[in-house]
Amino acid sequence: MKQNKSFPEGFLWGVSTASYQIEGAWDSDGKGESIWDRFTHTPGKIRNGDTGDTACDHYHRWQEDIQIMSQIGVKAYRLSTSWPRILPAGTGMVNQKGLDFYTRLVDELLQKEIIPFVTLYHWDLPQTLQEQGGWKVRSTAEAFLEYTDVITRCLGDRVKNWITHNEPSVMAHNGYHLGAHAPGLKDLGASLSASHHLLLSHGWAVPLIRKNSPQAKIGLSMNVNWMAIASPSQADHEAYRKSSGLWLRWYLDPLYGRGYPVDVIQDVIRLGALLNSELPFVYDDDLSVIAVPTDFLGVNYYTRFISRSTEIPEADNLPPNVTQSQRNQENWTEMGWEVYPEGLNRVLSWLYYEYQPPQLYVTESGCSYSDAPDNDGVIRDDRRIHYLKQHFAASLRAIENGVPLGGYFVWSLMDNFEWDQGYAQRFGLVWIDYSTKQRLLKNSAIWYQQIIADNSICE
Ligand code: FCB
Repeated sequence: MKQNKSFPEGFLWGVSTASYQIEGAWDSDGKGESIWDRFTHTPGKIRNGDTGDTACDHYHRWQEDIQIMSQIGVKAYRLSTSWPRILPAGTGMVNQKGLDFYTRLVDELLQKEIIPFVTLYHWDLPQTLQEQGGWKVRSTAEAFLEYTDVITRCLGDRVKNWITHNEPSVMAHNGYHLGAHAPGLKDLGASLSASHHLLLSHGWAVPLIRKNSPQAKIGLSMNVNWMAIASPSQADHEAYRKSSGLWLRWYLDPLYGRGYPVDVIQDVIRLGALLNSELPFVYDDDLSVIAVPTDFLGVNYYTRFISRSTEIPEADNLPPNVTQSQRNQENWTEMGWEVYPEGLNRVLSWLYYEYQPPQLYVTESGCSYSDAPDNDGVIRDDRRIHYLKQHFAASLRAIENGVPLGGYFVWSLMDNFEWDQGYAQRFGLVWIDYSTKQRLLKNSAIWYQQIIADNSICE
């Protein structure tokens, strides 16, 4: 029998976006070049040669976008600020027009009673800093502090929820090790020093944000998908240890006071990316800086990955007994990611009981399906509704397990520029017609409106 299951009172139903993926206006009003501007303008890097030059044109259409959020009834909105829009050269001169843009945005959100959650860094580093070494060098962490100071002094009285970094593991690996994201390097050693400087900049930023934004709640968002083990074999367990070590424990352990995991350091030495267990980029006190207490952990959850001893690229990392032809079934999204809702419950429960953050938020979760308007103009994205419903139910199971989950931000408010995939992947609750920039609510947005109003799901 179907049952109505309620979420805790005050649960924050939200939507999430990121500056480079939606704003456009890449060189307007004094904005500096970012590493994503440079990367997308380099031929061959992005599917179909797409760029974020105009994206959803949110820079000019932000009022309409807030109106849409208000119509859906969201309680909170997670956005990111663009560092090169505010400090075009990364440090030094402040671009007042950039600050004004975010000030207007935040004021309008508050006016509509939507709580802003601001991410300071969602991957769009100023290109000038990249030319000085990017996240490989310590001076970028120092520059991040300057940027954090400018933006939190400007908005700290009104914004009370801050996220320092979005997915530092994805930034470091996809950007510095695998080369799929800006700045496109393929160097494991560089990705390790990048990861350290990302974490260090987080540790330095937290007390500064507390100073500039009294009573602020501060966290960091990690990409944590469920990692399963393909078989009971020792080799597959070993594969799991290695990949979860490099992608999860390498970040979470130092953030929660345990330092860098010794087994991962040994793996990296074996791979030749470190000479010995002395990490040359770690200075005295860095680890205590990184372990600064925070108020919440943001979790970005999409899918399950299976660890196996045989080397297969991630997108083809099929669970045992799943054949290629079965992938087109309804439990695979167009990103090639498996729909695995129970993984969200497991991830939230594991993170809470392993690291004990005071609170958690799902800061991203969603799916890519390209359902377009039918002849009658209606977008029947039933698969997205199904995905969200199952993931909301999994969140509720985590809450029932005792996890202090404060809210859920659907990725994403609207279709947008999906990094190396360009516009080919559509994650939005709202359809974007990229030729006219017209916005159209998908059925999932209308369904979400009802969930928010009821604060419950029916299963
Ligand atoms: C996450 C990113 C976000 C979006 C989703 C699909 O890793 O944080 O910007 O691209 O994936």
